[in-house]
Amino acid sequence: MDQAASTGSTRNDPHAQERAARQAPLLLHSLSLFEEIFALLFRERRIRRVVEVGVESGQVSAMYARLGAEVVHCVEPLPTEEMRANIAGHDALDLVERPSPEAFDELPVADLYVLDGDHNYAVVSRELDWITRNAPDALVVLHDVLWPWGRRDLYYQPTPLDVADRQPDGPDGPTVWHDGVTPAGFIGAGAFTNAVEAGGERNGVCTAVEDVLAEAPGAWWLRIVPAVFGLGVLGRAESPAAEAICAALDPIASSGLLAALENNRIALYTRVLQMQYDAAAHAGHADELSELVAGQQQEIQELRGELEPLRAAARELREMRLARHELEQERDRLRTELSPLPSLRRWADRALVKTRGGGSRDRDQR
Ligand SMILES: C[S@@+](CC[C@H](N)C(=O)[O-])C[C@H]1O[C@@H](n2cnc3c(N)ncnc32)[C@H](O)[C@@H]1O
Repeated sequence: MDQAASTGSTRNDPHAQERAARQAPLLLHSLSLFEEIFALLFRERRIRRVVEVGVESGQVSAMYARLGAEVVHCVEPLPTEEMRANIAGHDALDLVERPSPEAFDELPVADLYVLDGDHNYAVVSRELDWITRNAPDALVVLHDVLWPWGRRDLYYQPTPLDVADRQPDGPDGPTVWHDGVTPAGFIGAGAFTNAVEAGGERNGVCTAVEDVLAEAPGAWWLRIVPAVFGLGVLGRAESPAAEAICAALDPIASSGLLAALENNRIALYTRVLQMQYDAAAHAGHADELSELVAGQQQEIQELRGELEPLRAAARELREMRLARHELEQERDRLRTELSPLPSLRRWADRALVKTRGGGSRDRDQR
């Protein structure tokens, strides 16, 4: 095996593989990844007309034309500007701005139906009912027949489905790490909701396929490629090239290696989702803390403003106390200095009295 061809790297360019890995999106989900499987179908069958249900960006639509389709009806109820531009730029592509399966009635019968629209039991079983009745020889490719929407409904919003046709649903999403839905799982962020519970009757894409096939046991073959959320390929047992297609698909559909890689991929990706969720929650917590700190700093500033006049008053008070202390000291010094004065005065008074008294006696004696 040519190692360079499978990884892209050579001894002179040893980083080619990681360059390619870096450029790939973190979440692989597009049907363009299954080009080899579609090429196989186009090789084995004459496919002139394709009905593509669920278009998203419109980048995959051109792949069917490149592989040999003359017309691709791109059924999408919610076209974006990017999708319109991609479809308008290609003569073989025809935008059908309607939901499936209602749009099927307005279109000619096709050779290949690619079902990747509203991934729930009600819509997928109606799509398959229509195809098995009206286009029994068509090939059908269905995306999302494995985890997470194989056994759990997804509803694009706003959903046209009656409550009776839906499972109880909500904004939380599935994760590999526990059975219930969580805000850290595959959430639709307003674009879609998920069934709260997985499994049971009338729930999920794979369950819809099984129920439709069970209506005519043995009449249809189904192969599931266990990669990128699971690709189901379906055809009538009596339809052209059925054996050749199944023989080509069997090694891929039964690959334990592919199934293990897919399980590892969804485990790693949902771990990344959990970490992103936790990081966002911590960032929110950090924002709250920095708001709290900013508020406290503001309060400190205001208290400092209030403190300044109090400090000035305290300074004045201290100076007054000092002055009073000095005055008291001066008073005490003066008291000490003047303390002999009363006895001097008494002495002087006595001397005066004496002086005065002695003089009158002298006068009297004379
Ligand atoms: C998973 S995306 C399709 C991805 C696309 N096939 C690809 O491989 O890149 C699902 C698309 O189906 C569209 N959709 C939802 N309900 C639909 C319906 N009833 N009929 C057709 N398309 C629908 C959504 O608007 C969304 O663009």
